[in-house]
Amino acid sequence: MPIEVRNLTHTYMKGTTSEVTAISGIDFRVDDGEFIGLIGATGSGKSTLIQHLNGLLRPTAGNVIVDGVDIWSKGVSLKQIRRKIGLVFQYPEQQVFEETVYDDIAFGPRNLGFSQTETEERVKKACTLVGLDRDLLSRSPFELSGGQVRRVAIAGILAIQPKVLILDEPTAGLDPKGRAEILDNIKQLHESGMTVILVSHNMDDVARLCERVMVLDRGKLVADGPAREVFSQREFLESMKLKPPEVTVLMEKLRKRGWAVRNDVLTVEEAHAEIVKELRRKGVAGAV
Ligand SMILES: Nc1ncnc2c1ncn2[C@@H]1O[C@H](COP(=O)(O)OP(=O)(O)OP(=O)(O)O)[C@@H](O)[C@H]1O
Ligand SMILES: [Mg+2]
Repeated sequence: MPIEVRNLTHTYMKGTTSEVTAISGIDFRVDDGEFIGLIGATGSGKSTLIQHLNGLLRPTAGNVIVDGVDIWSKGVSLKQIRRKIGLVFQYPEQQVFEETVYDDIAFGPRNLGFSQTETEERVKKACTLVGLDRDLLSRSPFELSGGQVRRVAIAGILAIQPKVLILDEPTAGLDPKGRAEILDNIKQLHESGMTVILVSHNMDDVARLCERVMVLDRGKLVADGPAREVFSQREFLESMKLKPPEVTVLMEKLRKRGWAVRNDVLTVEEAHAEIVKELRRKGVAGAV
């Protein structure tokens, strides 16, 4: 189910004195099974862009084409589009509103007209996928911890069983353990075949998980390519007010000191392998 974005522009409050063009002239294509990281400084247009992908925002200009069909053309059911492309909002705390966790996760399937049995199965499956304890299902979502609320919000979208999952800062404000667990769940969903688009301010997470990275700067798509290529450009990232991944910075420091290590490592494991290789070359292998 490819998604194509053509010349996409969105202006908020168009025609008023406070109009803001949040994104402009954006083109890209998402293919099945991709894991894309969307990065960019605050206010660069990330949330605006992704809300177009399942028709929550209507383009001021340009097109969003899902499976070859413009989602804003006559006769297209946006409900069907949202069933295929699920979006977890940036502040899911503001999205939980039902009396119990169960009802919250069941909202999507019920809305799509699934039977009680089918809904129950979907809720249980979604809980397993996000590691949410089923004992919590009868609780009020307002009694949960930040990490649990995130899981409820993600489970609510997974219960719709979308083909594409878009997450807007799913780990912001969580402690390292909660963050790692949620990212691990997302990684597994991708490994099971889901297309994932992850918006994140955390370059280390994006470098470690995503295969392709798109960079937004003041509403323009200024880079779109393999994570390895995008993250090896430290100066470019810094000019976008983005902090390069820690491992990129470390490799650059070592290179400045004359170490023959690669400048495009993405994970701690890769950095470790490079350092060991160089130490061996230098004849100090016994030290590692
Ligand atoms: N509902 C809205 N009405 C008016 N302007 C808006 C609205 N939402 C966003 N904007 C403006 O559009 C621009 C892009 O905002 P957006 O929220 O898409 O950026 P972002 O990259 O998601 O930022 P962040 O990293 O802080 O979440 C900003 O200038 C913002 O002030
Ligand atoms: Mg945002």
